[in-house]
Amino acid sequence: MVKSIGILTSGGDAPGMNAALRAVVRTGIYHHCRMFAIYRGYEGLIHNEMKEMTSSSVSGICRMGGTIIQTARSKRFMDQEGRKEAYDNFKRRGLDALVVVGGDGSFRGLHAFINEFGIKGIGLPGTIDNDLYGTEYTIGFDTAMNTALDAINKIRDTANSHNRIFIVEVMGRHAGDLAIYTAIASGSEEVFIPEKIEDFSAVVGRIEKGISRGKHSSIIIVAEGDESGGAFAIKEKFSKAKPEWDIRVSILGHIQRGGSPTATDSIIASRLGYESILGLLDGKSDVMVGYQSLDRVVQFIPLEETWTKKKSIPEDWQNMAKVLAS
Ligand code: F6P
Repeated sequence: MVKSIGILTSGGDAPGMNAALRAVVRTGIYHHCRMFAIYRGYEGLIHNEMKEMTSSSVSGICRMGGTIIQTARSKRFMDQEGRKEAYDNFKRRGLDALVVVGGDGSFRGLHAFINEFGIKGIGLPGTIDNDLYGTEYTIGFDTAMNTALDAINKIRDTANSHNRIFIVEVMGRHAGDLAIYTAIASGSEEVFIPEKIEDFSAVVGRIEKGISRGKHSSIIIVAEGDESGGAFAIKEKFSKAKPEWDIRVSILGHIQRGGSPTATDSIIASRLGYESILGLLDGKSDVMVGYQSLDRVVQFIPLEETWTKKKSIPEDWQNMAKVLAS
């Protein structure tokens, strides 16, 4: 029976991690568990940096960016020796389960920890990269996407005013989700993602065509992990092919990781945080709690059904709203 639960945030911070923390702590306390925040990710577990949380420890944090319990990319936890030190502290505190908000590296560590020491553990997808299988959205992706979109819209104004081509680099080490979604949302002309090799001369041809159609600007979005290199490497290639083009580079960088979470991120984080505790209490372990809404598919619904059938607010959502406010 799970009675004492630790929670940590790990890897790159992501907007919505605080909302997840609030949901995990409040749901745990509602179900009579003792809840412990572990600071600086797995590093805090290795160095025994933990604090017992009350309901008011997480008051007012759900609209805050970053993570109030901080995060780290712990190299030591990747080794069994480091994990053993972490486990000694885990046991000394009387913890029996661990909730980890993070990305794939954090989950690899959690999986090893669970299997080496027989503890219970559950993962919450928290990364702006949206690169985890099993969830349609990760916590932080929507905010990062909207931050990037806002920046690209502003870049478009200046690009149009000068007849320029802008190469905008967004985050995403191995994943093109942020790049492709923001490219679509911003109406950008081209996008380079790590998952696909672009035919460079075809890209040049399409941009040329746009210019001859009277376009005043072109925006090319590049994921930082693209195999052609980052934005500056791609600019070099364009400048060689078309020295007459006026090209600028803009790297959006860590601005995409900050800021207050969007409503979508707060809701996903709250929902997943709440469900992670219900899952643990139900005996689930060594799993990630994922979020599937539309499953990225389009469906065709008979027109008549759109008014004859009713969408209802699920009862568990109504319960969740109560528990999280407690
Ligand atoms: O994993 C999220 C992410 O923002 C990636 O998109 C990016 O490559 C990486 O983290 C940057 O990490 P750091 O902040 O440690 O430099």
